[in-house]
Amino acid sequence: YKRVTVKSLVEMKKHGEKISMLTSYDYSMAKIVDGANVDAILVGDSASNVMAGHETTLPITLDQMIYHATSVVRAAKRALVVVDIPFGSYQSDSKEALRSAIRIMKESGAHAIKVEGGSEIKESVTRILQAGIPVMGHLGLTPQSIYKFGTYTVRAKEEEEAEKLKSDAKLLEELGCFAIVLEKIPAKLAKQVAESVSIPIIGIGAGNHVDGQVLVVHDMLGMTHEFHPRFLRRYLNLYDEMSNAISQYVDDVKSQDFPNKDESY
Ligand code: KIV
Ligand code: NA
Repeated sequence: YKRVTVKSLVEMKKHGEKISMLTSYDYSMAKIVDGANVDAILVGDSASNVMAGHETTLPITLDQMIYHATSVVRAAKRALVVVDIPFGSYQSDSKEALRSAIRIMKESGAHAIKVEGGSEIKESVTRILQAGIPVMGHLGLTPQSIYKFGTYTVRAKEEEEAEKLKSDAKLLEELGCFAIVLEKIPAKLAKQVAESVSIPIIGIGAGNHVDGQVLVVHDMLGMTHEFHPRFLRRYLNLYDEMSNAISQYVDDVKSQDFPNKDESY
């Protein structure tokens, strides 16, 4: 397998080849995702919701993110592995941000980190990039700031927020980020941003005129149930399939159908 790099993603944008990205948080899932030729794997802080059952992404710690990232890195032979730098590990000052980014890179073996925000975190992004660590940005709906926004509704519908998003995207490109995730914003705005920068724009709920797409793998496989935003396409209904299989197992144990003679020593 030829490893996907931050450089190859920028090349893909140049050639008009769309970038596929999915999350993973553990070895077994990352093995399947990588084996299916997904270009980039995001060890998202959505692990806080999906893996740990928290309501938001705020509680997950740097140590927990490193644990998830380490497991994913062991499985990924081809995909670029990007890790979310979690809430509270980069906002205090840029030196703390760099220390957190270094811990992720050193302890997990991942290839890049992702940060939420624009001009507010300019210093931290600069310092992390100066250390040679590739940085992916994340603008639009940024779940670590959910208590500031109050809701998970579409972002940047108003002129002022749209202008700020456009200038933040430009800034992240100028600082040297290799890509930007745009979450839950109007497709028209996402298109304008994708056309205005030379680094790849990876959308989630940002329409089709961007350079790639990312989804939470448990959502697209239908393993999660409660969450159904418009942008989510479910490729399977794994929740029901797994639930049926497990019910069948319970019945088989109760009825002593399992294990049978062939399954015994
Ligand atoms: O944590 C995550 O899964 C993300 C994606 C939704 C972009 O940040
Ligand atoms: Na995230």
